[in-house]
Amino acid sequence: MNGYRRLEDRVAIITGASGGIGEAAARLFVENGAFVVIADIQDELGDQVVASIGPERCSYKHCDVTDEKQYGTLDIVYSNAGILISYNGMLDLDMKALEKTIDVNVCGGVAMIKHAGRAMVERNILGSIICRVSVGGSRAGIAPPGYTASKHALLGVVRSASQELGMYGIRVNCVSPLGVVTPMTCAIPGIKRFRLDPEFVEELMSPLSTLKDMSMKAKDIAEAALFLASDESACINGYNLIVDGALPDDINTFPVNVAKVAMGLVRWSISKVTLSSILSVLLDIFNNIENKMVFRFWFAATTGKYPVLNRHNGC
Ligand SMILES: NC(=O)c1ccc[n+]([C@@H]2O[C@H](COP(=O)([O-])OP(=O)(O)OC[C@H]3O[C@@H](n4cnc5c(N)ncnc54)[C@H](O)[C@@H]3O)[C@@H](O)[C@H]2O)c1
Repeated sequence: MNGYRRLEDRVAIITGASGGIGEAAARLFVENGAFVVIADIQDELGDQVVASIGPERCSYKHCDVTDEKQYGTLDIVYSNAGILISYNGMLDLDMKALEKTIDVNVCGGVAMIKHAGRAMVERNILGSIICRVSVGGSRAGIAPPGYTASKHALLGVVRSASQELGMYGIRVNCVSPLGVVTPMTCAIPGIKRFRLDPEFVEELMSPLSTLKDMSMKAKDIAEAALFLASDESACINGYNLIVDGALPDDINTFPVNVAKVAMGLVRWSISKVTLSSILSVLLDIFNNIENKMVFRFWFAATTGKYPVLNRHNGC
């Protein structure tokens, strides 16, 4: 970096920064001279992140992005918080999970842009607003339909807001990654006691890209956000910065990956089988009927009956 810090003396708020990609961004923004407000609903984890970065360079604020009355003034707003709570396909779409997903991923992002935009306009700040979208925000077959809908909608909001706020010198852009290993991608919705092995998740994602040996990490996404936050991107507005190492057009990861995840679940349960682990997973399954799709895929994958599994290379 040669001592040059790209966000010197700026104040940034990053939502969803108690872990995952948001935490990596908080660390990188601080390294680049910003004071960062970490905004999240996981207070204990947020406090731990602040303690490890240093309370003189960042602070934690409890902020539920679905609650509109939360925002203040800033140079940089990185609306990163998001959820993926259901892998159900269209035929099994859970409307409650869809509403919750839209609430966090779309309404949360919209509220951030609205209030950050107002505060910046009032104070004449030529700020930068960045939203976390996803590769699934501009194409199908990458994520479950509810999540895909939410990220498509958010991309539309970013594009629309960039025109309006651009008239005040405020830039609105987004970063759209493919998969990286985070608590979100290692989780199986509804099965709280079970986490996929990070190496297994990486094994699923890395070969998708055409970029040789690509192994994308949260820090790589944070670098893209840093670029959009800094003056290096001063003339970039309304842009969807896709970070996927060039994912070929004919690659589908949904529902294919769900089947692979289901196989990973079986592999895990065979390798780590104990009575209590089986009982706890079974308990979660019965408590969360919405996960039935994962098990339908598992059944289909093991019996070879699901046609999508044969459609693409490497499935
Ligand atoms: N990990 C990936 O592969 C991937 C790919 C594409 C896009 N994304 C997007 O990146 C963002 C971060 O994902 P991640 O993988 O780091 O997930 P993560 O689950 O590790 O982190 C998300 C953070 O958001 C917080 N959060 C959830 N609901 C909130 C709410 N209502 N208010 C405030 N904070 C809330 C969580 O507490 C968590 O700290 C999300 O928007 C996700 O959709 C992730």
